[in-house]
Amino acid sequence: MNTPLVRFLATLVSAYILIAPCAHAQQKTPSKPFDLIEWNGGKFVYGVDYYPEHWNESQWEKDAQMMQAAGINFVRLAEFAWVKMEPTEGKFDFAWLDRALKVLNAHGIKAMLGTPTASPPAWLYAKYPDISAMDENGIRYRYGSRRNYCIHNPNFIAATQRIVTAMAEHYKNHPGVIGWQIDNELGDPDCYDAASRAAFQRWCRTKYKTLEALNKAWGTVFWGHTYLAWSEIPLPWNTLGKAHNPSLALDFKRFQSDSTHDYLRIQTTILRKIAPAKAITHNEMGMYDNVDYSVLNTSLDFVAWDNYPMFQKDYASYFGPGLAHDLMRGSKNNQNFMVMEQQGGLPGWNVFWGHQAAPGLYRVWAYQAVAHGADGVCYFRWRTCRYGTEQYWQGILDQDSYPNARYQTASQAGKELGQLTELLRGSKVISPVALLISPDSRWAFHIQPLVEKFNYNQQLHAYYNAFRRLGINVDALFPQSDFSSYKIIVASSLFLADKPLVEKLTEFVKNGGTLVLSYRSGVKDEHNVVTDQTLPGPLAELAGVAIHDFDPQTNQEQEIVDIDGTRFSAGVWFDILEPTSAQTLATYGKGYYAGKAAVTQNSFGKGLVFYVGTEAGQDYYDNGIKWLVQQVGVDTGPSLPEGVEMAVREKTGKKVIFLLNYTEKPQTVSLGQTYQNALTGSSEPAGVEIPAFDVKVLTTP
Ligand code: GLA
Ligand code: GLA
Repeated sequence: MNTPLVRFLATLVSAYILIAPCAHAQQKTPSKPFDLIEWNGGKFVYGVDYYPEHWNESQWEKDAQMMQAAGINFVRLAEFAWVKMEPTEGKFDFAWLDRALKVLNAHGIKAMLGTPTASPPAWLYAKYPDISAMDENGIRYRYGSRRNYCIHNPNFIAATQRIVTAMAEHYKNHPGVIGWQIDNELGDPDCYDAASRAAFQRWCRTKYKTLEALNKAWGTVFWGHTYLAWSEIPLPWNTLGKAHNPSLALDFKRFQSDSTHDYLRIQTTILRKIAPAKAITHNEMGMYDNVDYSVLNTSLDFVAWDNYPMFQKDYASYFGPGLAHDLMRGSKNNQNFMVMEQQGGLPGWNVFWGHQAAPGLYRVWAYQAVAHGADGVCYFRWRTCRYGTEQYWQGILDQDSYPNARYQTASQAGKELGQLTELLRGSKVISPVALLISPDSRWAFHIQPLVEKFNYNQQLHAYYNAFRRLGINVDALFPQSDFSSYKIIVASSLFLADKPLVEKLTEFVKNGGTLVLSYRSGVKDEHNVVTDQTLPGPLAELAGVAIHDFDPQTNQEQEIVDIDGTRFSAGVWFDILEPTSAQTLATYGKGYYAGKAAVTQNSFGKGLVFYVGTEAGQDYYDNGIKWLVQQVGVDTGPSLPEGVEMAVREKTGKKVIFLLNYTEKPQTVSLGQTYQNALTGSSEPAGVEIPAFDVKVLTTP
């Protein structure tokens, strides 16, 4: 039977087999944005990450009482409890979790269950040693930590399907379980074993169809790396001198991100089929970029993430977590989100990270999340563990369960957020300006950072802080986001600018938008290959500049000189700009290119394009953005003292204004009009005083 029809069907089947493991079919997101408050029975989601299995059962009732007294109505449970739920292969025990849920539910506390795949049982590793991920030297990680599994391993995938199915079946009708968190902080480690290599080769085959196309796209003619069979394609593993083809390396990043999405979808598919009424999320990591969250989140109902303000070294200022909140919100079309792990105490593993924060600051951070669009805050963790790697990572309570100052402030925030629920419900963050996040550029810079001091996030923070100092809300955009509603988009170091993105940015500017580009933009095509056009390549016409020389001399003292003669320090990278149609706004102050353009402005269509050829000190961004928003007509907020943030949520006819004081002194902000204090109902004077480490929530009547 070799009829044309049979041959046709066989082709379809083999095409499916080829595509299936990495299919990118994006699950449809509901057209109505997910309402977290409705989901939680009309309550603002206020919770803790709780590990009943870490404590004597006799403590559970008292825990639940203390939670309820603190306004807690939500817990996340079980995300590392695989061995408790499947003590031996295929034998399940949910009795302990049922009992814990009963205690919690009786106190009005609903639960989200974590699928426990981030920490597979020892028996699983003993039986299938190959479930461990292999590092770039060909050595498998040893048992003992967590997250050390390989997402391409068939034994691990089978074990995942088994535990997720069992949980879904057991809890599909449980009224006290309202949703699932998939795994825990997906994204690492990359696996370099034979199964992963074969999966990468299949991914490449699906993408490029022919080896000729792949060889051409990757420029494998260099060093004679041309591939004659798909099976010859390597991974970016430990080669001599760590030299990899940058195009292969970028595709490997994309493949890993897609594979993580595929692994997540193995779980979401089971959960949606068996328990369709329950919501699904994942605890993400803010600025973390091994996974393109804007793609991953197409398979989730809402975004959740883990916010540790004291743990992030590159946060640069108190605005830092705000940018991460905004990026997380932007990774799913600006929908409101929740914090699944909100720092509840001092972080520490073998050493403590930093000094203890004033107890009030933990409450201010919770409000910061809300101000940036969170409709839920869940603290990590209820109580510090007595044992294990994290015995110094503080929860709200310490091991002795004493209702300490952190518990008191968490209780205060719990009561207040309960009170604010109706006001917050349906309100959103609306921003006139946005930062464009380019996952491709971030990956390409990881592969080739170019200069030691370069850090993609550093510029995001610099522009972000400048807007926030002016009390302006900021959105984060991904290449597929809708650009049309913004007055200003900052696309810093848009290293890799593919054609569709360039066209979108061009449209945006043509229609009157203002685009800010910065150094090292338009350098690469979608294959991570350098353009053969004059830099900034496909963005040159928009920017109205040509770059025939650049200076990556990071050790050189450099400065830029504004048109009014003010000097600002500059570093990291220096694009030497030759305006073609742009006008010069600042020049370099030193070196052989002193006097050449460093910053330019170009008119294009109805809009403007700025090109900032270097990385300047924060004062330059503060000045420049202040000037720019005036030019473009973006409303600014009141003048804000150092250490105070203002953020606004809106719903029809109403504004909710958050004034957050991160300092140990009372601060005053002149709003120019009186507002109602949303908590007390009384009118606040036009000069609002915010006590030390405190917050004011104001609203229009
Ligand atoms: C050496 C090698 C060249 C090239 C240059 C620059 O001289 O022989 O092939 O790699 O270094 O790296
Ligand atoms: C992450 C993890 C948690 C815990 C905390 C604190 O956010 O998701 O399980 O390890 O860090 O270390």
